[in-house]
Amino acid sequence: MTTTRPIAPHTQTVTSVRHYTDRLFSFRVTRPQSLRFRSGEFVMIGLMEDNNKPLLRAYSIASPSWDDELEFYSIKVKDGPLTSKLKNIKIGDELIVRPKPVGTLVLDALLPAKRIYLIATGTGFAPFASLIRDPDLYERYDEVILCHTCRDLAELDYSKELVNSLPTDPLIGEFIGDKLTYYPTTTRENSINMGRITKLLVDGTLSKDLNLPPLNPETDRLMVCGSIDLNNDIKKICDAAGMNEGSNSSPSHFVVEKAFVG
Ligand code: A2P
Repeated sequence: MTTTRPIAPHTQTVTSVRHYTDRLFSFRVTRPQSLRFRSGEFVMIGLMEDNNKPLLRAYSIASPSWDDELEFYSIKVKDGPLTSKLKNIKIGDELIVRPKPVGTLVLDALLPAKRIYLIATGTGFAPFASLIRDPDLYERYDEVILCHTCRDLAELDYSKELVNSLPTDPLIGEFIGDKLTYYPTTTRENSINMGRITKLLVDGTLSKDLNLPPLNPETDRLMVCGSIDLNNDIKKICDAAGMNEGSNSSPSHFVVEKAFVG
């Protein structure tokens, strides 16, 4: 007689939740023992629906690969099938985490260079929250320029707090030294750096503010994570600078990935 076994649900336990705004929150869960990943990769996570089927979406892992737990950074979409439920999770709740990491925002997809730009909008910051805590990033690059564009200042809190905590972090602080530069910008609330990062790149404001030369395929690499429009706009900027898109099998000058949205 043959029996069918239920598919292992890969359930993990929520260990902390933090809400930043009515649109953004982060949470941490226990880490599946079998999960090995490269900083910048994503996994499928989700919840069981009432009909006992898993509802899963792609989420970038925001924690570094050396962390005992997994961290995620999420938007709350009002009628989003998953996020409208996920936003209510509490410590002790169960979350499905499929331990099969994938993604293009990995250091192996880029050729060596002097400087790397990490460009995110909104929750597109998540993979970079992992990468900026990875010693390998600072071993490969002399300068890391972290750009995060959000609508208003409150939406920058997650990245701002993380960046501020890094210099004194006992595990990663010494690797970073003075290599990491944070360039936050807002588009709908006044702040020191106003405007979309695409505009600030093209009109020379970013170079002027940070005293950087124009993009150059010899010295610069880019990783980009945001909306499809942002990714396409940056691709055009990279094309114009003579840069090519890289991949795991063919490393080059820049890589892009769509941020989780629903
Ligand atoms: P804007 O306010 O001008 O739309 P969202 O919260 O909708 O995900 O957007 C996050 C941030 O990304 C916002 O500041 C938004 O600016 C910006 N943004 C959206 N599309 C683009 C794009 N194509 N290029 C650059 N920035 C973008």
